[in-house]
Amino acid sequence: MSEEGDTLDDDLRVGSCERCPALVESRSRIVNGVGPTDADLLFVGEGPGANEDEAGEPFVGRSGDVLDEALRDGGLARKDVRITNCVRCRPPENRDPHADELSNCRGHLEAEVGRLDPELIVTLGKVPSEHLLGRSVSITAESGDVVDARVASEARRVLLSVHPAATLYDRSQREGFLATIERAADLSGAGEGSDGQSRLGEF
Ligand code: URA
Repeated sequence: MSEEGDTLDDDLRVGSCERCPALVESRSRIVNGVGPTDADLLFVGEGPGANEDEAGEPFVGRSGDVLDEALRDGGLARKDVRITNCVRCRPPENRDPHADELSNCRGHLEAEVGRLDPELIVTLGKVPSEHLLGRSVSITAESGDVVDARVASEARRVLLSVHPAATLYDRSQREGFLATIERAADLSGAGEGSDGQSRLGEF
């Protein structure tokens, strides 16, 4: 990532879309990805929840707090990573996005991955893991694994993780989640910067 961080992402922002009738109905707004477009690390969640729908930013509710804390523990700052979702509109009653909705939004995710060309993609939960790998995933068993997946026309390194919310429902998942995010920091080199100064954990 450049020292300043490149945040000019107008080309990646979806301004209007009517492809998924149920999501058009349930959303208040489209929630685009945030963070530098030259980030080494890209986190991919499932889709916006109520808080994200209200704020217009991914992972700002309780799941976001868990993610932010894990990033800090791993020596990373939220501003240094990019965070996005498989679908950009809140599904009704927070249900999982349907296959056609994931497919409708896939082009936006591919464009984001292609533009960032990140060192590492971290999938937060079962839905993004299965979506990017194109196979079924037992996320509790496979969390922490690094696999290759073809995304945006290239083989990408993908680190599988449980969803941050899983640590709220099941405290026993917390340690594993923190270890996975720490692994993400180590594998990507994110946060080290050219002079190693921005790894918060080093201070
Ligand atoms: N859960 C997700 O998968 N994405 C968000 O943005 C928030 C919660």
